[in-house]
Amino acid sequence: MRQTSIHHIILIGFMGTGKTSVGKCLATAMGRAFIDTDNEVERKSGKSINAIFAEDGETHFRKLETETLHFLAILSEPHVIATGGGIAVNKENIPLLQALGWVVALTASEAELIRRLRDASNRPLLLENAEQKVYDLLQVRRDSYKCADWTMDTTGRTVEEISTSIRVRYEQEFYV
Ligand code: S3P
Repeated sequence: MRQTSIHHIILIGFMGTGKTSVGKCLATAMGRAFIDTDNEVERKSGKSINAIFAEDGETHFRKLETETLHFLAILSEPHVIATGGGIAVNKENIPLLQALGWVVALTASEAELIRRLRDASNRPLLLENAEQKVYDLLQVRRDSYKCADWTMDTTGRTVEEISTSIRVRYEQEFYV
């Protein structure tokens, strides 16, 4: 086990793997506060993710995302943290994620992700030809999520089931 000062639970994974829904459910079950890096980026910039991509570009969004990870390092209470699907693609972010605590990657089958993301109007990377984009991005990104301490396939599972599995595993791992 890695030594970290504060033991956050950090959820990473492709868009549509359920990081936000599972993160909220898990945070409630564990009596922790929940943070979503996308919400932090929006709060800090005063713009929606779609507007940041459209007006400032993806590179600027990635910079704000990394700044958010630095900000999270100063939290003093253990949180559940959901991240944007591209956060682990930037190698600079991986030690920052790992330093925050226990990193869990959520996965889902390609067919399931395409089904969940077909009408993803709130995701700038999928505004056109979502199905093909999901397929292409998955090929490029699959390996980035291997930096996680634990990986869970969410295909066919409910938010509550996934949340419970993560909590049980966390308790086994850290003898809570
Ligand atoms: C992105 C995923 C989004 C959001 C942004 C970019 C990505 O978050 O950060 O649209 O690059 O995969 P979700 O994974 O919560 O959709």
